[in-house]
Amino acid sequence: MEKLLENKCAVITGANRGIGRAITEVFAQHGASVFACARKKNPAFEEDMNVLEEKYGSSIHPVYFELCDSEGMKEAVKEIRSKKKPVDILVNNAGILSGYQRFSMMPLQDVRKLFDVDFFAQMELTQLILRLMQRNKKGSIVYISSIASLDGFFSSYDYVACKAAVNAAMKQQAREVGQSGIRVNAVAPGIVQTDMIKDSDKDNLNSILPAIMLQRFGTVQEIANAVLFLASDLASYVTGQVLRVDGGTNPPRANWQGGENG
Ligand SMILES: NC(=O)c1ccc[n+]([C@@H]2O[C@H](COP(=O)([O-])OP(=O)(O)OC[C@H]3O[C@@H](n4cnc5c(N)ncnc54)[C@H](OP(=O)(O)O)[C@@H]3O)[C@@H](O)[C@H]2O)c1
Repeated sequence: MEKLLENKCAVITGANRGIGRAITEVFAQHGASVFACARKKNPAFEEDMNVLEEKYGSSIHPVYFELCDSEGMKEAVKEIRSKKKPVDILVNNAGILSGYQRFSMMPLQDVRKLFDVDFFAQMELTQLILRLMQRNKKGSIVYISSIASLDGFFSSYDYVACKAAVNAAMKQQAREVGQSGIRVNAVAPGIVQTDMIKDSDKDNLNSILPAIMLQRFGTVQEIANAVLFLASDLASYVTGQVLRVDGGTNPPRANWQGGENG
């Protein structure tokens, strides 16, 4: 198998579970050395990363910080810098979902909280990592957005608005850093059955199925493969784009009204 990320070094947030864990595995499989970021030190996570290292022969270095702890983030980036590996790739994956409240009922502090994690923390981390990339005059940044940013979704006003802001910020960053040889893109997954949606109303989720051309939800590996493409040199002329990875979800056919709780 051709390794698409040989000699590349990646920083991936939310590497301990869900889509981030899958991205970490596919990156290791393709020869990247990975700074696998998780919120808290955790022996099970370290063991899991060791298993991946051995399986694929790639280096995986766990790094710990809470996204909203600015000082902790700076320390983590210092730690990354101290390893003296030029960072080629940043995947802004970690995030939270809202509590499915309608716009008319949504407390402002909930919207702020979601933006803190899903927008401002990613912005801060990207600024810090960009400084490392700009020295090398190359790099690829991939945000994990959502089709919610393009179509709306149930009653998640804050999440939809935040992911749309991520798309716009991504595009502006791509414009600013293109001349430094850095590409910035986003993957917009459709529904993927991770912990993030485990509390979602099952009827609401199932109501989406008929609107998906492939008639099924996506897997974490399918999202990770799209991130791999955008991160790799295969996408060397792709920047400023939002790539839908959603099995052909056709919003007009989806019954996404939801009730009071979704
Ligand atoms: N699943 C879907 O259907 C779907 C669809 C579209 C887009 N997405 C996007 O895909 C990305 C990954 O989602 P997922 O489904 O893999 O979610 P997940 O299984 O819930 O995983 C979320 C990850 O983000 C980390 N995280 C959350 N808040 C954090 C914080 N404050 N500081 C540090 N780490 C934090 C979590 O760490 P802990 O384990 O410590 O909590 C975990 O590693 C998100 O950006 C999400 O919006 C998901």
